[in-house]
Amino acid sequence: MSDSQSEQFTECPNLRGWICQRQATQMTDLERLDFYWFSGTGNTLLVAQALADLFADEGWDVRLQPMTDTDPTSVQPEGWVGLAFPVACQTTYPLVWRFCERLAPGQGTPIFMVDTMAGYSGAVVGPLRGVVLKRGYTPIGAREIIMPSNLYPIRVSEERNQRLRERGQEQARAYARDLLAGRAHWGHIHILPDLFRAIMGSRPMWHWIARTDGLLRVDQERCTRCGLCAALCPVANIRLAPWPEYQRRCEQCMRCLSYCPEKALGLWGLPRVPYRAVPADALLPSPRKAGEPCPGDGEQKVA
Ligand SMILES: Cc1cc2nc3c(=O)[nH]c(=O)nc-3n(C[C@H](O)[C@H](O)[C@H](O)COP(=O)(O)O)c2cc1C
Ligand code: SF4
Ligand code: SF4
Repeated sequence: MSDSQSEQFTECPNLRGWICQRQATQMTDLERLDFYWFSGTGNTLLVAQALADLFADEGWDVRLQPMTDTDPTSVQPEGWVGLAFPVACQTTYPLVWRFCERLAPGQGTPIFMVDTMAGYSGAVVGPLRGVVLKRGYTPIGAREIIMPSNLYPIRVSEERNQRLRERGQEQARAYARDLLAGRAHWGHIHILPDLFRAIMGSRPMWHWIARTDGLLRVDQERCTRCGLCAALCPVANIRLAPWPEYQRRCEQCMRCLSYCPEKALGLWGLPRVPYRAVPADALLPSPRKAGEPCPGDGEQKVA
């Protein structure tokens, strides 16, 4: 992370509080953007924040809110809606699909999406367009932005990661300008993406992925039982009993592995080089007990 980035987050460790402060200074008769995000390790949050900042600078009333703290069924959009999330396994996490599929019905409400990825996504833009159309929204823009990989952070240098993050944030600002100027577009290439989504978003696939949390290992020599991994998990998959235990609903967002201060968690028994684009505070969902679903999740299930 660059010095300027750390300063920004040091000044206000809780990003949500910072956004609220910006809102408080704004007038009430402004254009409104409700912008919902999910981010495993911070890339998407940086992109969402850059985009939100540009809208705010253009005088919009921006509400940047974590999907994990929002009940999608009670969303009451007054202006535009934005969605930001990472690509995972060519699609996105089941928790993101659950959120989008349960969005309160729109009345032709303009909606846009932005995702972050390491290289390629096969099955997000088109299938999600279908979902939001079905919910009654008008898709106005989709963009995919390349950021560092949080899956294999060991392969590249921090310097290169930083350059990628800065470029990604610049692309997010350019996208915001395109959205505001009516130049953005949310197209749909049929057949292949839908096929990908059917395969990669299928229940058996994510059940298999969820089972991989059997491969997550806690090094009890290192673990101090601080509980940060459990607090950060977006699907309440970790229980301290007294050591962290996984509950078979992992979505592989990488938070617990990346943010453990003791590097006590490893995948496939291997130690992990942590990838962190923002401090842990910026990602903390509101506290939930292990097994307790996110707001609006209803019964927890694999999408
Ligand atoms: C389990 C997992 C699967 C991923 N799958 C893909 C993929 O299919 N394509 C891709 O380009 N990047 C993939 N990535 C990389 C992330 O999409 C990328 O690093 C993203 O910016 C992470 O965002 P975040 O920090 O907001 O979680 C994957 C990452 C993880 C953890
Ligand atoms: S974050 Fe790390 S040290 Fe803290 S409880 Fe989890 S595994 Fe243990
Ligand atoms: S167990 Fe870890 S990797 Fe899995 S969903 Fe929770 S925080 Fe993410």
